[in-house]
Amino acid sequence: MKSPVVKVLEEKRAQARLGGGDKRVQSQHERGKLTARERIDVLLDPDSFEEYGMFVEHRQHNFGMENNKTPGDGVVTGQGTINGRLVFVYSQDFTVMGGSMSEANAGKICKIMDLAAKVGAPVVGINDSGGARIQEGVDSLAGYGEIFQRNVDYSGVVPQISMIMGPCAGGAVYSPALTDFTFMVRNSSYMFVTGPEVVKTVTHEDVTQEELGGAFIHTTKTGVADRSFGNDIDALLQTRRLINFLPSNNTGNLPYRETSDPADRIDLSLNTLVPENPNKPYDIRQLLLSVVDEGDFFEIKPDYAQNVIVGFGRMQGRPVGFVANQPMVLAGCLDIDASVKAARFIRFCDAFEIPIVSFIDVPGFLPGVSQEHHGIIRHGAKLLYAYAEATVPKISVITRKAYGGAYIVMNSKHLRGDVNYAWANAEIAVMGAEGASKILYRGTEGEELKAKEKEYKEKFANPFYAASRGYIDDVIRPQNTRWRICHALTLLYKKKYTRPYKKHDNLPL
Ligand code: HXC
Repeated sequence: MKSPVVKVLEEKRAQARLGGGDKRVQSQHERGKLTARERIDVLLDPDSFEEYGMFVEHRQHNFGMENNKTPGDGVVTGQGTINGRLVFVYSQDFTVMGGSMSEANAGKICKIMDLAAKVGAPVVGINDSGGARIQEGVDSLAGYGEIFQRNVDYSGVVPQISMIMGPCAGGAVYSPALTDFTFMVRNSSYMFVTGPEVVKTVTHEDVTQEELGGAFIHTTKTGVADRSFGNDIDALLQTRRLINFLPSNNTGNLPYRETSDPADRIDLSLNTLVPENPNKPYDIRQLLLSVVDEGDFFEIKPDYAQNVIVGFGRMQGRPVGFVANQPMVLAGCLDIDASVKAARFIRFCDAFEIPIVSFIDVPGFLPGVSQEHHGIIRHGAKLLYAYAEATVPKISVITRKAYGGAYIVMNSKHLRGDVNYAWANAEIAVMGAEGASKILYRGTEGEELKAKEKEYKEKFANPFYAASRGYIDDVIRPQNTRWRICHALTLLYKKKYTRPYKKHDNLPL
């Protein structure tokens, strides 16, 4: 027989689990969305979720709010595990006052963020909210501010992931913007600072929510979101996959996953990956998938600035961050978007002690008035800065071209690259032979110019000149890339390098 106290507890729990009630839950499902609790169930290991703050209520009296209380107050918070590793989570409940942010539910979110930082575990925030609770006025804004402050305080301390699974508008967008990774669900989520109605009033532009801030725009055009998924379940399962690659905090303990993929596996197909014609593209993804353990690669921002690929893989069971120029897009040139994309990724890896491996085939920074006028100087500097300040193990492989400023920026020895390899066909020079000879031998034409071009090619269109200077540590055969990197990583896991004291740096923002 249950005691009366237990009965009361069970009733209260059951009431909290109802959220905004059956009708609103049904409406949530009709839109193809899971409820806040269903999302947590998919995200975490079965039965691992422990909820905190289930009985929290708001304390507002304006607009009859004293009679409009739901236990939990519109957000479900707590902790559980993903593949056995501790993760903190909050999940906004759209069925309770549109998941709107109140002073009380912001307090719940802050509490789990503080706990996560204290014990060193990632935070996953599931956003599905109509924004600041209108009845609360500035109290709700204060709640957002408290969350933003913690997003910043814990940036680089524990990984923070934002999932956008419904509306996320107004100042609410700035919490996801401060976190490490943002995922959206196609056709059911959107993010904007001011919605279509305000836009219409102010600028007279007609635009839908989807056009203004849907998943497609943010993953292809703005870079605000890192990936989008077709539905809630896929988004949640892929977030589990990402967490598997990430350390829990910044203390340098990388997660390990048993692998049967031999470190000394060679791949003969890589010997013919680069076409003989230096102007012909090839897919650098083939190299990425070839070298990582079991071909398991988690790409970040796959639909944005595709001239550079960034993402996580494992080598001998430990996570590695990969940055690779993609010759298939803009010939692998670095432009503004690619520089910023790669810089942000490198800074995440460095903050969490994840080694960085770079595959380099870069003819230079992208020329053009638009690039110059939009500040390629300032934005390109971010990438240079990120590589130069990173103290984690830094390994690179030049697969073909490494020209000019882009050669320096892409983890060169001069930016303290630890182990720098080049494939035997690599070309390391100020620019391509054709352009160089035209400048050096202005006025020369025809056969004479061709001969000069050949001379330049023989001198610089190979990795040996750079290797003779010690800028390249070894010239390797493509087939051996995996085991050479594995060796270098084993050597570098004990790397220690400390930068001079400073309060913080002044990254070119
Ligand atoms: C209180 C809210 C709410 C809010 C929605 N609701 N947003 N309650 N504060 N901000 C309630 C609705 O009254 C409704 O209650 C329920 O949630 C569902 O809302 P619907 O409008 O029926 O849903 P839907 O048609 O899907 O529209 C969703 C919506 C819309 C587009 C998000 O609700 C909306 O425009 N809400 C207001 C958005 C807004 O202006 N927020 C403030 C932005 S400023 P019932 O009881 O009927 O179910 C801001 C500043 C943050 O956020 C600054 C941080 C620094």
